[in-house]
This record gives sequence, C-alpha cells and structure tokens, in this order.
Amino acid sequence: MADKDVENKVPIYKLKTTEEIMKYYDEWGTNNKYDKDMVEWDYTGPKETVDTFKKYANNKEIKIYDAGCGTGLVGVELKKNGYSNFDGVDLSKKLLDLVPNGLYKNLSKSDLNKPLNISNNKYDAILCVGTFTFGHVKPQALDEFIRIIKNKGLICFTINEGIYKKYGFDKKINELTEKNLWKKKEFFKSNYISSKGVNAWLGLYEVIK
Ligand SMILES: C[S@@+](CC[C@H](N)C(=O)[O-])C[C@H]1O[C@@H](n2cnc3c(N)ncnc32)[C@H](O)[C@@H]1O
Repeated sequence: MADKDVENKVPIYKLKTTEEIMKYYDEWGTNNKYDKDMVEWDYTGPKETVDTFKKYANNKEIKIYDAGCGTGLVGVELKKNGYSNFDGVDLSKKLLDLVPNGLYKNLSKSDLNKPLNISNNKYDAILCVGTFTFGHVKPQALDEFIRIIKNKGLICFTINEGIYKKYGFDKKINELTEKNLWKKKEFFKSNYISSKGVNAWLGLYEVIK
C-alpha cells in the first residue's frame, strides 16, 4: 500500500535541504510561534511517545538522548513522568535557545544526518519525536543511534506516515531486525498531528549488542 499523500498538509514538508529546514525552524521559533502552533494543532507526538516509552523504562535515572529536541516538548513530558537525566540535540540554535532553563542536562547543536561526536554505548535510551519527517533526518541516523546506545537500550521514535516508505524507513527497520541488532517492542500508527490529517508510525525497539 502506498503512503498516504500528506506532503501538502504542512508547509515545512515542501522543503528539501537541511539549510532550508534550519532557517525555517529558526524563524518558526520567533515569539514562541512553534510552541503556540503545536498547541493549536493539538500535536500529540511528545506525549504519545513518552507514554509508550515509560511502559518499558521503569528506571527513572537512565540516561536519555532526545534527538531533534526542538524547544523541549519531549523533555517536558519526560520531566512530568519523573525522568531527569536527559540530553538534547537539534539543528536549530533558535529552538534550542527556547528550551526551558535546566530542563536538559546538556544541549547541543548538531546535524543528525552526520556522524555524531558521541562515544559508543553512552545512552540507555533515545527518543526521536517529529524528526523523521519530510526533508529532516534520514533512516541512516538509526545506525548512529544503535552505536551510541547500550546493550538493551531503548529507541523510541515517530516516523511521519508520508515518508515511511518513500525514504526507506520500512527497509531500514527490516534490515536492523533481520541483522538482529534490535527487537521490536511496539510499532503502531499514532495520532501525531491528526488535526492536520497527518499520522505517524510510533516504534519502540530494544537494542541487542
Ligand atoms: C517537528 S520538530 C520536533 C521537535 C520536538 N522533538 C517536538 O516533538 O516538538 C523537528 C525537529 O527536528 C530538527 N531537525 C531537523 N533536521 C535536523 C537534523 N538534520 N539534525 C538535527 N535536528 C534536525 C528541527 O530543528 C526540529 O526541531
């Protein structure tokens, strides 16, 4: 079955290059417009993802990497649920500047489509919400996620339904499963931005090393 046509539903889905995406988010942060839009759109990605994650992550002390943290909406959900040890990374300096002070242990600006300057086996878990979408971060980033996470670590992510097959996320997920690099715990269609007619696949995988 072909992916549903969602490309016309949100303006940023039309952008192609990382440079264009970064500029768009930098401007979207002005006057907290990004956060205001997410409230108006009833964007449920961060809550749905953390609600799924917390069913498997009983230890609240674990070290978590929020890949594509933006203004910190996932961090807010993590904190509400008792987690406190998390780092965030994003492409947009402007959005990182809007993250509430002290919410994350460390914040950094990096491109997740490039090799990460992080040692092997550093994190217990990775959350990646809203970042696997049109023009953003490609399936190869999952290889880096597996490298920087510990054995039995959890990777929990959303993938916009419009790019799941188009960008080869379906193939990448199968490849990692067939190579026995991770094991599926959850994979379902989540609401995400249903007010705009856009849903996302929500996956949670346990890494095997
Ligand atoms: C839809 S927002 C999601 C932000 C946050 N996770 C949330 O749920 O609100 C997508 C985020 O991905 C970031 N992003 C896009 N391309 C990226 C890249 N190549 N490397 C790192 N972050 C990227 C954007 O700057 C933006 O903050």
